[in-house]
Amino acid sequence: MKILLLGSNGQVGFELARTFLPLGEVIAVNREKVDLSDLEKLRETIQTISPDVIVNAAAYTAVDKAETERVLAFAINAGAVAVLAQEAKKIKALLIHYSTDYVFDGTKDIPYNEKDVTNPLSIYGESKLAGEQEIQQSGADYLILRTTWVFASRGQNFVKSILRLAAEREDLNIVADQIGAPTSARFIAETTAHILRQTQQERDAKTFHSAIYNLTNSGETSWHGFAEKIVELARREKIELKNRFINPIPTSGYPTPAKRPLNSRLSTQKLSQHFGLTMPSWETVLELCLAEK
Ligand SMILES: NC(=O)c1ccc[n+]([C@@H]2O[C@H](COP(=O)([O-])OP(=O)(O)OC[C@H]3O[C@@H](n4cnc5c(N)ncnc54)[C@H](OP(=O)(O)O)[C@@H]3O)[C@@H](O)[C@H]2O)c1
Repeated sequence: MKILLLGSNGQVGFELARTFLPLGEVIAVNREKVDLSDLEKLRETIQTISPDVIVNAAAYTAVDKAETERVLAFAINAGAVAVLAQEAKKIKALLIHYSTDYVFDGTKDIPYNEKDVTNPLSIYGESKLAGEQEIQQSGADYLILRTTWVFASRGQNFVKSILRLAAEREDLNIVADQIGAPTSARFIAETTAHILRQTQQERDAKTFHSAIYNLTNSGETSWHGFAEKIVELARREKIELKNRFINPIPTSGYPTPAKRPLNSRLSTQKLSQHFGLTMPSWETVLELCLAEK
């Protein structure tokens, strides 16, 4: 199996590049090699490599900046994704693409399933939804994996921000009324590899159906609960921190340019059932991530 991986320098892409290795030939490219804003180069790359599978881990992910960079966010998260889908269709490749809970408005009071009505609150959410729609309209074989609150031991994420701030400050104020499931990039990569293997068997057997799946770790917490657990586990790992208090605050106490959903929880029942997988808890994968330090 020949796999073209885009976005190999991101949190998820970095983990995918390693995890895919036993599955076949992996051609992993970062922004330097293929910039998603260069659509001609993107088409040419896919046509030259002619992969069996295209995995897109690249995205415009600057949620707040997107509020003033609408054109760029849509170009990367929708325009380039449309090209990926068109090219995948031409060469009968499978397209695996990642999306987000930010396609929802967060007003539901239980976890969102794959059939729930979308209603993004931000430009980033709108651009990711537009990308999903481009794929769905393309006629290519696809899997769209919606995830949430991604962290890893590298890259820019909440875990790294909290470790840095807790080392500098005694007091931290953290939003306590947004709820989600922190999800590890390594877990996303390992699960994607399982999914890909089974999917290729289904495609060979002509039993495959393109679909959206939610893919997150299990359990739920607020950003405040997440921060408390990071500090607790970091102390257990003997990481030196100055922090003494983590104060819960409402979303209104931490204004940001982009509006975030209050409920970011996604039900993973469909994915668990179809692929026979168990989602480990967010605490388990966080502990593994912090043990790497
Ligand atoms: N992070 C989250 O909390 C979260 C939550 C829900 C869903 N998701 C989705 O999960 C997927 C993976 O996210 P992630 O957390 O791994 O994101 P990330 O760490 O921000 O990585 C995104 C990657 O995309 C690359 N990229 C951005 N613009 C590009 C362009 N014009 N051409 C080529 N590459 C470009 C970046 O390149 P550089 O390294 O050069 O900047 C980066 O390596 C994305 O689809 C994202 O929307 C993420």
